[in-house]
Amino acid sequence: MSENTQRYLVTSALPYANGPLHVGQISGAYLPADIFVRYLRMRGEDVVYVCGTDDHGVPITLTAEREGKSPKEVVDFWWAHMKETFDRFGISFDNFSHTSTEIHAENTRHFYEKLKSGGYISEAESKQMYSATEGRFLPDRYVEGTCPVCGYKEARGDQCDNCGSWYEAYELIEPHSKITGGPVEVRETTHLYFDLPKFSERLTEYISGQEHWRTSVKNFILGFINAGLEKRPITRDISWGVPVPEPSFEDKRFYVWFDAHIGYISSTMEWAERIGEPDKWREYWQEPDTKMIHFIGKDNTVFHTTMWPAQLMGVAEGGEEPYALPYDVPANEFMNLEVPVEGERRAMQMSTSRNLAVWLHEALDKFPADPLRFYLASTLPETADVNFSWRDFQGRVNSELIGNLGNYVNRVLSFVGKYFDGELKRPENLPDGALAAFSDFKEIEARYESRMLDERPREALSELLAMGRSANRFFDASAPWKTRKEDMELTGANLYVCCAMLGSIAYHASPYVPDAMERLRTFFDGPMERITDLDLPDSYGTSGAKPLFARIEDEEIEAADEKLARAVRGE
Ligand code: MF3
Ligand code: ZN
Repeated sequence: MSENTQRYLVTSALPYANGPLHVGQISGAYLPADIFVRYLRMRGEDVVYVCGTDDHGVPITLTAEREGKSPKEVVDFWWAHMKETFDRFGISFDNFSHTSTEIHAENTRHFYEKLKSGGYISEAESKQMYSATEGRFLPDRYVEGTCPVCGYKEARGDQCDNCGSWYEAYELIEPHSKITGGPVEVRETTHLYFDLPKFSERLTEYISGQEHWRTSVKNFILGFINAGLEKRPITRDISWGVPVPEPSFEDKRFYVWFDAHIGYISSTMEWAERIGEPDKWREYWQEPDTKMIHFIGKDNTVFHTTMWPAQLMGVAEGGEEPYALPYDVPANEFMNLEVPVEGERRAMQMSTSRNLAVWLHEALDKFPADPLRFYLASTLPETADVNFSWRDFQGRVNSELIGNLGNYVNRVLSFVGKYFDGELKRPENLPDGALAAFSDFKEIEARYESRMLDERPREALSELLAMGRSANRFFDASAPWKTRKEDMELTGANLYVCCAMLGSIAYHASPYVPDAMERLRTFFDGPMERITDLDLPDSYGTSGAKPLFARIEDEEIEAADEKLARAVRGE
């Protein structure tokens, strides 16, 4: 890589391998990361984008018990399912791994040993929930109850999904077994603890220095640390997970949140192995000038900004393994569903158990990836919770993707095909108005770039639409359908300018709708590049415009809405 490229390691949260992906997850951690990464690659930056499934923890064992399968069967099935769905949706991971691999277990043990020798691990008796009828401890999600902080009724044993608080399961009000609904009691058991409080000052200093972090994320987490960190148990009374390398812990396993983040490293190692440069992962993890960016949903914020950097700091001590710290942790808000019920449209929380969700693989059975990506990108929960609505999907695709961008491509290229035999030579001089139009356009390009580099693909998308409007305005103002009757040279020169704008629109649209822009290459002959960087080519050509996107019809939307309405009615 040349000297002025920036090295990035980008990750998307490792999804639990226990069910299909829904559009809410996609909007939180995957689509924004993929758009960002595609943009960086186009610019020639040095970027590796990794992910994989999170195969451990109670979410997996609960699913296995419910389905009468082994945890391994569950994670293998969903790993393959997710990988295929991500592929179909165009998520362009450089590597999609999973955490139930030997290399990952080794990495986890290594992290543990390092933290232990740094003095950050201790052993202590603790109170855990025990079910006498089931004859076992019930860690984490096996217990439910009312959140002691916010009063949410279905709070889990380890963390409240509603307010994000951490607590011990015995602090829950009216705790009970998730499996049987039966009573639970407190019993003593021994666990290993990670000394998070020893990192309080370092974490505060690190996070305070992150000028570019989203203020919501930064303030939330500084407040969290300020309220006082506690030692965190990193083992569980459970038989599925990474084994603990201590003789008296043979029947216990590491807690999933001890090993999960390390999965980002394991996946990068797997990638390096695959490209035949097994040591190359270190550049992305251990060079201080790497920008490491973790895209996550907001429910993962606390772990990614406390436990994880603390683990990295601990392991980096001594300088042999100089792990860098995350450059940014863009945490996205939630996506709710807008559902038609009893004649009105209501926003409701997605619910996996009620099948009230838009599953990505099912959406992809009905629509191509591009329009889905476009709509989801236009409504990413970057700053506030948002609603997914099939009706908005139709509206935005038809009016903006097709009405603005697709239409522009079609108008320009049809004209070039019809009146110029598909080829426009570069004019001697650019026509009046072209320079002004270019400079307007360049300003929008600059705004797009800055929004995108700020990891805000939804805001960058509005700039892309502004480019489309600006180009359409120029086309309208130059009125080729009129001028072609009097002045073919002028008409050709204006269309040449339109093609330059088209190339820029295609460039900036590629991260959002990659398939369509690949297809465009088959009938648009000219550079797809920013106007700002463009060397005007000798000619633009086309073999004739073809439609890039299909309109979304009312019947399709009604069917999709009806499916959600049935889920609400419990049918
Ligand atoms: N599996 C977790 C979830 O779905 C996310 C883990 S992200 C990781 O909430 F980085 F820790 F892997
Ligand atoms: Zn709560």
